[in-house]
Amino acid sequence: LNLRNHNLSDKINALPQKVKNLLVEAGRIADDEGLSVYVVGGFVRDIILGVENLDIDIVVEGDALRFSEKLADYYCAHLTKHDRFGTAVVVLEDDFKIDVVTARKEYYEYPASLPVIEGGTIKDDLFRRDFTINSMAIKLNKSGFGNIVDFYGGRRDLQMGLIRILYNLSFVEDPTRVFRAIRFEQRYDFRMEEKTEEFAIKAIESGILGKVSHERINFELFSMLKESNIPAILERMEQLHILKKVYPQIMLTNDLKKVLRNAEEDFAYFSEKLNHPESPDRTLLYLLILHSNMDHENAAKSSENMRLTKEYKEEILKLIEVRDRVLSNLSGNVDISYYDVYNELKGLSIEILLVLCMISGEKKVINRIILYINNLKNIKTYISGKDLRDLGVKPGPEYKLLLEEVLAAKLNGSLQTYKDELEFLKRIISKENN
Ligand code: CTP
Repeated sequence: LNLRNHNLSDKINALPQKVKNLLVEAGRIADDEGLSVYVVGGFVRDIILGVENLDIDIVVEGDALRFSEKLADYYCAHLTKHDRFGTAVVVLEDDFKIDVVTARKEYYEYPASLPVIEGGTIKDDLFRRDFTINSMAIKLNKSGFGNIVDFYGGRRDLQMGLIRILYNLSFVEDPTRVFRAIRFEQRYDFRMEEKTEEFAIKAIESGILGKVSHERINFELFSMLKESNIPAILERMEQLHILKKVYPQIMLTNDLKKVLRNAEEDFAYFSEKLNHPESPDRTLLYLLILHSNMDHENAAKSSENMRLTKEYKEEILKLIEVRDRVLSNLSGNVDISYYDVYNELKGLSIEILLVLCMISGEKKVINRIILYINNLKNIKTYISGKDLRDLGVKPGPEYKLLLEEVLAAKLNGSLQTYKDELEFLKRIISKENN
């Protein structure tokens, strides 16, 4: 990083044309309205780091609502205004979203009260933010376009790889910042500055996380699950004694840590090996892994605590239900037919199947699961109910049993063609009739 570079026009010029134009237009509209506008937060942090981030948060010194109306008019975009908060969201035709807020000053009259909000300067607005690395802005007005606004040492901390709060009560006022600090640490391979870490630990020890709503904790959980270094984040959460407080059922044993650490590599390996049309749901994969060593009761409690969707909950409980049986029945010392493999795995989602591979780690089990996904799962008989009718079998529960018997023979490899199946069917029917 070049700390002497106070202007980022070059970097803005290198952005996709659409984003660059948007930033220039925002500055022009602000000039016309006599306002000062800035792009702030994660976008600024990441442009300095050279990391792609097209989340545009704009701060207006003055009336953000008037500004957002002009911006939306110019782009014929959809505008949602929150008059009470002085914030707006402009959504362009292609769903590209721009958040616009009025620069504000926040202060708390007493601990844990809601903040009192007043209009303020960009300096005030940047001060109420979580960390120095997120407290920078870039000016968009024509005069000074691209200038970095960095009152609190954001660039210095980016350079030093430090996550630092701006004021001592930061974690107390917004405890979710503890999760954010950990996420940023692991994402950029940074660490918390010493005092910041002490404040984080104090906030955690005070039990304040217990006062945060489930919705907000969950928002942090799902943000974590979108990161690339999930195991490191979890281990850091464990080290700071957060994991036990917010997700008491998660047992980060050495075995689970190993599965987590290998997860990304395993996903890549399987996606190459598998002829599966859709790519698995990565969030679900990690949720399954995190619950994979629980019993039914704890898994149910945990997914309730995480307020997971019904679909995710069902997947988790299904994994717990089949886990022990599948792992023991598919293991190398058991001699089973393809049809048995098929029956063990029938109906399980691709995510459950992958997680079973990962927690088993046994070659034989993995090969059987891969064989199921790539072959057995898709095998169907040529014959159908119509053939049974033509052979004079009366419709009834027997149909299903006969078709299943043909499928079993086919899966086990003794039938190839339609004719083979028909012959086989005739043989079992005549055997039954005798
Ligand atoms: N912010 C904050 N405190 C929070 C959440 C957000 O101060 N609890 C501020 C930060 O300045 C942050 C900005 O709001 O940069 C935007 O928040 P968000 O979009 O959640 O974060 P990003 O920093 O963009 O992070 P990410 O890359 O994870 O989206």
